[in-house]
Amino acid sequence: MTDFLWWRDGVIYQIYPRSFLDTNGDGLGDLPGITARLDYLADLGVAAIWLSPFYPSPDKDFGYDVADHCAVDPRYGTLADFDALVQQAHARGIRVVLDLVLNHTSDQHPWFQEARSSRDPSAKRDWYLWRDPRPGRSASSRLPNNWMSMFSGAAWGWEPATGQYYLHLFAPEQPDLNWRNPAVRQAQLDVVRFWLRRDVDGFRLDVFNAYFKDETLRDNPTQFGLAPVLRRKHVYDIDQPEMIPLLNELRGILDGYPERYAVGETSFATVEKAAAYCGPDRLHAAFSFEFTGLAGLGVGWGPRYIARKIQERERVFGAAGVWPTTVMGNHDVPRPATRYCRGEDDAPAKLAMALLLTLRGTPFLYYGDEIGMRDLNLRRDQIMDPVGKAYWPFLKGRDGCRSPMQWDGTPQAGFTTGRPWLRVHGNATQRNLAAQRQDPSSLFNFTRDLIALRKQTPALIRGALAVTPSGSPQVLAFTRTLPGQRILVALNFARRPARISPATLGGSSELLYSTRRSQRPEPRGGLELDPHEVCLLLGN
Ligand code: NOJ
Ligand code: CA
Repeated sequence: MTDFLWWRDGVIYQIYPRSFLDTNGDGLGDLPGITARLDYLADLGVAAIWLSPFYPSPDKDFGYDVADHCAVDPRYGTLADFDALVQQAHARGIRVVLDLVLNHTSDQHPWFQEARSSRDPSAKRDWYLWRDPRPGRSASSRLPNNWMSMFSGAAWGWEPATGQYYLHLFAPEQPDLNWRNPAVRQAQLDVVRFWLRRDVDGFRLDVFNAYFKDETLRDNPTQFGLAPVLRRKHVYDIDQPEMIPLLNELRGILDGYPERYAVGETSFATVEKAAAYCGPDRLHAAFSFEFTGLAGLGVGWGPRYIARKIQERERVFGAAGVWPTTVMGNHDVPRPATRYCRGEDDAPAKLAMALLLTLRGTPFLYYGDEIGMRDLNLRRDQIMDPVGKAYWPFLKGRDGCRSPMQWDGTPQAGFTTGRPWLRVHGNATQRNLAAQRQDPSSLFNFTRDLIALRKQTPALIRGALAVTPSGSPQVLAFTRTLPGQRILVALNFARRPARISPATLGGSSELLYSTRRSQRPEPRGGLELDPHEVCLLLGN
């Protein structure tokens, strides 16, 4: 491809630095660990890495409570390690995307320390959102409004020293910033500039659509919902119109450098919402999460569900002229292999990987999903994530998908020589990168092959997408088409063989790729698919 654009056409690999590779035996992954594995990532074929936060943090939300946006937590390394990582990544043609958490800070951030110390406006008081109690007898009636935290309970924390509440849409240790204060806006955009000057290629913006709140903090309308935060319609706490001019300004800063990128993490995402935040003077992309859902809840699987979701994204992103993203896993949801596989069989995980790599949109590949890592199953007393602590046993939190990368079959899976911060999955003696490299039919080799195939096949990257009837209720089929190249992707979601119709095949006759193990009989009017087969055919 002559016009390869890294963030549109390449695969972006998400690294949770804490769990990738520990180089000093303290049980925490670190930046030198990422640098040490860049050759692995180059060989896998990714175009960019997105690093979850490595900034100084008290870890109340494992890095998403940031105490200094322009520094490296000493546990992960130094700024010099960071510069070396960027330089080494670039030397291999790998771009670096940082996770910017600008909606809130840690309560240990010097800004909040100053703000909470006094009501004096000169003391950064107005950098956060403070309100007096409302008159009322019960504790809940005194809260400034009815907003709920994404994590648990009300979104208001009480500060006894100064007698006011502060807003926190996440943990109480994550106070929300007041983006209406021009000094906050300036300081946060300076964070963006700081990392751009350090040669960072792009940003993933944590809950960007929550930066601005309704100016008068009106109550949200209520509705039926299973969790407190779902019992509110999020009318006044997110998606305020002030976000658009801010995105315009941010985009102006990014466009001052070549090929820079911003992808937004859309809170309470819908495809419509995600698409509306993107454009030439807005974000390059925004997550829509139709395959992962909120905390992995309420999300379906199977040819009909997936077809419907694909058509919806094609319609909405297509009409908006916005390039979609595809997310199958991240640090907030159960891993795809955990969601779709039984036992250690990886066949359904190959379907998820095939979707990730053949749909129209930028694939976001979460570390470890290329070897089908499964979530840890933790006991209540092992849970560290505030979400798990709040919602156990309905939600077990997000620790499960954050376990150490399984590099090899040695006792700590090659992740650390010390004691890992979170235990290594019990399946690591068999399920690890070293073992999967040796196995031609492994999920790892499948992933690597498909990334390579994608690179050589422009229609798989840029081609128009159309879902087509497959002739079988258990098979999802879609085409990717560019002038002169038509690829048919056929995915058998069932554990039984299936037959796709001659009409589906159309002009596609040449086999491009398949996970089929058995000999394929002569096609007699159609194509027989193995159980869970992933099949790519080439036509013109
Ligand atoms: C979204 C992040 O993905 C999640 O991990 C975090 O807990 C919240 N934002 C708060 O920063
Ligand atoms: Ca370490």
